[in-house]
Amino acid sequence: ADGPRINPSILAADFVNMQSELARIAGADFVHVDVMDNHFVPNLTFGPQMVGRIQETSPVPLDVHLMISDPDRWAPGYAELGAASVTFHLEAAAEPVALARRLRQIGARAGVAVKPATPVEGLFDVLDEFDQILVMTVEPGFGGQSFMADQMPKLARLHDEARRRGSQVWLQVDGGIGETTIAQAAEAGADTFVAGSAVFGADDPDAAIAALRSRAGR
Ligand code: DX5
Ligand code: ZN
Repeated sequence: ADGPRINPSILAADFVNMQSELARIAGADFVHVDVMDNHFVPNLTFGPQMVGRIQETSPVPLDVHLMISDPDRWAPGYAELGAASVTFHLEAAAEPVALARRLRQIGARAGVAVKPATPVEGLFDVLDEFDQILVMTVEPGFGGQSFMADQMPKLARLHDEARRRGSQVWLQVDGGIGETTIAQAAEAGADTFVAGSAVFGADDPDAAIAALRSRAGR
């Protein structure tokens, strides 16, 4: 609902200069923070200590994307750090609804993410348990991959169902989002857009954010 929101992914930032990188995206809605554990995905980023410092440093609220195994155990800790939203993967969670309730109880927006091969229909009856649903438009693990347009029908089905139920859930896309792909995702019903390389690879990240926002305008 509403939007468009543009959430730059710091996976594409210079990790050694995180403070100045965060200052370059002050015009963003949220900063997207990709946590990877080298188990759920074949790549490793950082954990709660780093996310806590980003939380203290960032001019915009945090949108934490957990690409980790056993989120039932680890996700609440990220909410306790003060992240505005915490999104875990449906494929990794033992009790997704119970975990979402716990995240909300702590005060975070609760998000659930689905990989490209995972259907969304299983979420239809529990849409109200989540504040945002993330439809991955690449296989999670790495930045700079190509946008998977074949995920658009799935996103559109989710959007139609959310509308039908009067749900306010935010629909997010992540992976390969840039000036040439964002309009398709907006057209299919996304309202929240994660962009890593398209923002941090630009000379002026705040201008890139503004350009993406206008292309996503519906
Ligand atoms: C991929 C991550 C994405 C990634 C997107 O596993 O979840 O958030 O940073 O990067 P781009 O926008 O470069 O595809
Ligand atoms: Zn992500």
